[in-house]
Amino acid sequence: MSDRLAPVVRLAPAKLNLTLSVVGRRPDGFHALHSVMAPLRLYDRLSLAPVAGPVDTLHVTGGDAGPAADNLVLRAIAAARRAAMAAHGRGASTGLLAARLEKHIPVAAGLGGGSSDAAAALDAALEAWSLDLGPEDRARVAAELGSDVPFFLAGSPALVEGRGEQVTPLPNLTGAAPGILLVTPSIAIRTADAFAAFDAGGPAAPPDPRSTRISSEHLVAELRGGLSGSDLVARAGVLAATNDLAAAAFHLVPGLLQLRRRMSRILGVSIGLSGSGPTLWALYPSLDDARNAGDALEGAFRRGDLEAPGPGAPTVIATQLGGPPA
Ligand code: C5P
Repeated sequence: MSDRLAPVVRLAPAKLNLTLSVVGRRPDGFHALHSVMAPLRLYDRLSLAPVAGPVDTLHVTGGDAGPAADNLVLRAIAAARRAAMAAHGRGASTGLLAARLEKHIPVAAGLGGGSSDAAAALDAALEAWSLDLGPEDRARVAAELGSDVPFFLAGSPALVEGRGEQVTPLPNLTGAAPGILLVTPSIAIRTADAFAAFDAGGPAAPPDPRSTRISSEHLVAELRGGLSGSDLVARAGVLAATNDLAAAAFHLVPGLLQLRRRMSRILGVSIGLSGSGPTLWALYPSLDDARNAGDALEGAFRRGDLEAPGPGAPTVIATQLGGPPA
């Protein structure tokens, strides 16, 4: 353990799949993807500090993230320790850590919160130990933790391919960061279930996988050419239709499709689904616009004019696309 006393703190951002095209099935059972992912200004806060032991510990506040032992943060610390010892020798000082995680990103929502926490924990543990790993080792450990984890090492929008392990950073949007409204019903969709429904086909099959792929490739080219936030907002209609897992999510949770239709009618904009859901999104030119739309929806939910699937009220969050504000 280094002589560091202050905890190492990381902000772990949520992600949005701007596009998600499933381009094939891999021999390992996973699906090959072509997806443009972008970080959001919505963060979990992770802090790691040395602890006497006997084991690494995790304390979660702000959300029900399930049993601590299953949490990707503890798995990421353990994986970082193994990789650091492999790189620096078994004598490398990788002392036990106490992790504190403040959840702000809805859990199992298609926003990558758990994966982002894992990427943050990998990075923070290495810093707590004053040890480094090469980019290839980091990427390998991240991919072992979960398909979405490697994206979070990029810190920028990225094209994500393969199972999720091939991450090609893309330029940030230019100009003002767009606002985004996120509506997460209180019902979890497991990624594995969404892919299984996708594989079963029928009503859960995407209506037009070829056009999804073309739209995803087109967005990559546009971002490489320098796309502004307002250009992206203007493409919301196409982006909202560019998710091959949407039909599967709507098949698993029929109330989600109704919510999307009603939201679109109330707000007058296109509504997309992030990842395998259940989070629905709407893009706006600014954070204020997204907040106003959020207020309108909260009012509609309160009055009973709008209903979301799930046992509790949905979570409504207005935030922005983009990295941390400078
Ligand atoms: O890698 P991760 O644990 O996030 O994946 C959860 C599940 O989602 C996998 O077990 C697999 O069923 C499915 N999946 C997939 N193809 C991907 C990513 C995830 O089939 N590219």
